Amino acid sequence: MTSAEPPAVLRPAAAALFGDRLDLAQRYARLLSNDAVRRGLIGPREVESVWPRHILNCAVIQELIPDGARTVDVGSGAGLPGVPLALARPDLPIWLVEPLERRVRFLTELVDALELHGQVTVIRGRADAPEVRQTVGECDAVTARAVAPLDRLVPWVLPIVRPGGRLLAIKGVRAEAELSDSMKVLASTGGVARGIRTCGVGIVDPPTRVVVIERASNRPNDEGKR
Ligand SMILES: C[S@@+](CC[C@H](N)C(=O)[O-])C[C@H]1O[C@@H](n2cnc3c(N)ncnc32)[C@H](O)[C@@H]1O
Repeated sequence: MTSAEPPAVLRPAAAALFGDRLDLAQRYARLLSNDAVRRGLIGPREVESVWPRHILNCAVIQELIPDGARTVDVGSGAGLPGVPLALARPDLPIWLVEPLERRVRFLTELVDALELHGQVTVIRGRADAPEVRQTVGECDAVTARAVAPLDRLVPWVLPIVRPGGRLLAIKGVRAEAELSDSMKVLASTGGVARGIRTCGVGIVDPPTRVVVIERASNRPNDEGKR
């Protein structure tokens, strides 16, 4: 079985981020490196980078989430970024939304194994499906990594963000290009670009880049319907 401990150089950062939940984060690392690989949810070559590229890279976006924010992680896959966020921030109620059954089963088992009942809820479905929208309601923050380009993601998720709430989309080098490609969609859905933020400076290299989109108080499309 693959070791679950963070590499020595990352241990202080992992300890600072997860505090007394570091043991649970290590349990998650073990499940990602073994079960998730065996079940085809994570590529075998990614095992080496489970801590820097997956767990820490995702956990650091907690910097952008206010205390107690109702948070929905869309397209969680094997639990990223929702599970590291939940472990780093016990104050956040988190919903993991994922359509694929195999992944949902893994996520449900994770909640059991990591004792996250009461904090994390797994929902099977697409973020843009009416029944999912009804179940999660309007949240303070939506997180997403590697789910879809912004111009597709924004219309899927903005309806589940409360006015003034935010979509936090982890994006790499294409952040600027995707943001500029999504301007029309932002205008029609009531999304306001709040910039590209850099999280985890001095913790992950490179730091995590997050596109921040706020839902405006009044959506242009709603105006016409009144
Ligand atoms: C490439 S995976 C990324 C998984 C994870 N976020 C990560 O960073 O490792 C994309 C995930 O988004 C999910 N997905 C695609 N379209 C979706 C939608 N409309 N609503 C919710 N999830 C979706 C897929 O099922 C898949 O698990």
